[in-house]
Amino acid sequence: MNISQYSKGCGALVEGVQLANLSDAELGDLRRAFADHGVLFFRNQSLSPDDHLTFAHRWGEIVINKFFTHTQEYPGIAEVRKEKDQETNIGGGWHTDHSYDQKPALGSILVARELPETGGDTHFANLQKAYESLSDGLKKTLETLRAVHSNVHVYGEDGYYQSTDLASQLGGVDDVGEAIHPVVIQHPDTGRKILYVNPGFTLCFEGWTPEESRPLLNYLFAHVLTNGFTCRFNWEPGSIAFWDNRSTWHSAENDYPGQFRLMHRITLAGGALQGV
Ligand code: SIN
Repeated sequence: MNISQYSKGCGALVEGVQLANLSDAELGDLRRAFADHGVLFFRNQSLSPDDHLTFAHRWGEIVINKFFTHTQEYPGIAEVRKEKDQETNIGGGWHTDHSYDQKPALGSILVARELPETGGDTHFANLQKAYESLSDGLKKTLETLRAVHSNVHVYGEDGYYQSTDLASQLGGVDDVGEAIHPVVIQHPDTGRKILYVNPGFTLCFEGWTPEESRPLLNYLFAHVLTNGFTCRFNWEPGSIAFWDNRSTWHSAENDYPGQFRLMHRITLAGGALQGV
């Protein structure tokens, strides 16, 4: 197996391995690479839905997403689907999955099933590197804060998706909620510090108003996105991305009007996040 940096600031490309036939030793190498790089990219994989589930079960427990539709046969596999005549895509803004949960997801394994001829890339950002490059003064302040994460404005009755042509495809409007997490978390496996706020779901700092929080949140978001901590993954048939939700953000491009795109996503359950 060969694991190389995908871009300077983000991700790793894993070659010379098939996820459908992974030895225990290879699984151990992947676990280390996953913790080190935050997102792993694979090419030329032959992974059936059953193989996808088997790989996920070897890693951990699967969490069923309340909002996305699932494949008929496999309730553990969510569909990230955009029809030819749809305008809105799922995940089209920077976010980390499930940060609004009390126990946010560990990670997601996204498998390309049907791709547009052009477009449909996914961007990723590395929140560990972004945190490490902040000044000591700001790091110290951030370590004292907690932030409120919510999905009400995204999946709720009056949320973003209800006003789009994705509304009929998504469920769970009554199952929305919020959670509070430390702004700087300690990665459960590596102990490294990670900035844990994201543009999609973080509303404000605990005890601060949204207006008071916005300038600092915007500063942090711009820092992550403009200082070399992102990468862009172009999907090919057989491509897979496996990301750590605690240490990355992602955002799906919506630049393929009139074309169909279907991805299969399995989300892995995580635990409560610890501050530093
Ligand atoms: C998502 O999981 O947010 C969607 C990512 C993608 O479709 O590329």
